[in-house]
Amino acid sequence: MDGNGRWAERRRRPRIIGHRAGARTVNICIDFCIARGIEALTLFAFSSENWGRPEDEVGALMKLFLNALEREVEELHRRGVRVRFIGERERFSEKIRERMAAAEQQTRNNHTLHLTVAASYGGRWDIAQAARSLAADVAAGRLAPDEIDEVLIASRLSLADLPAPDLFIRTGGDTRISNFLLWQLAYTELWFTELLWPELDATTLQRALDDYGNRERRFGLTGSQVAAALSNETVE
Ligand code: IPE
Ligand code: MG
Repeated sequence: MDGNGRWAERRRRPRIIGHRAGARTVNICIDFCIARGIEALTLFAFSSENWGRPEDEVGALMKLFLNALEREVEELHRRGVRVRFIGERERFSEKIRERMAAAEQQTRNNHTLHLTVAASYGGRWDIAQAARSLAADVAAGRLAPDEIDEVLIASRLSLADLPAPDLFIRTGGDTRISNFLLWQLAYTELWFTELLWPELDATTLQRALDDYGNRERRFGLTGSQVAAALSNETVE
């Protein structure tokens, strides 16, 4: 979700106004996913590196985050959204941590949409914490080093119970991953737009989906192998 600050600066307003506008876009995205039957949405709300921003901006973002947790969770629950948070939780205040845990607890049996909010998250942090947990098992004698493979590493990552993302959307004009889901994005289709996050709307999201639908995902295979697999699927 990139471009909140620039959106506000273009209007000669403080950056936090852009973050507030960005919070409204989150609802547009959730509505869009529910309407289209998209089952999982992962939002990159705050990166491990964002802690390094000026203190007043970090403080304002935390306030906004807490407000959103207080205001939105009930309605999300009513709509069947399962809410979860990934990232280094210890860095948040106790109040925010409690709200996160309460939201996860309240919505844990919902299935309409798996909403994951990546907060204080970094793809490198995720891989490091997976490595740490495997190393602890090895040290305790529960696991042999040669049992460690891609499947086992994936099982210790934050989104272990969800399929890898099909589509990655980044707003704000920059064409990079910026330490989002590094492992999980290996074969994800990437889609970039110049629009700033607060400008994102359902029409643009649909454009991204349409583009995605026109791509050929080969997962390292040849085009004809993929075509054959697809026609088998249709026959079955
Ligand atoms: C994204 O908007 C929101 C967060 C990272 C919290 P930015 O704050 O990065 O907005 P720009 O990139 O400065 O416009
Ligand atoms: Mg930015």
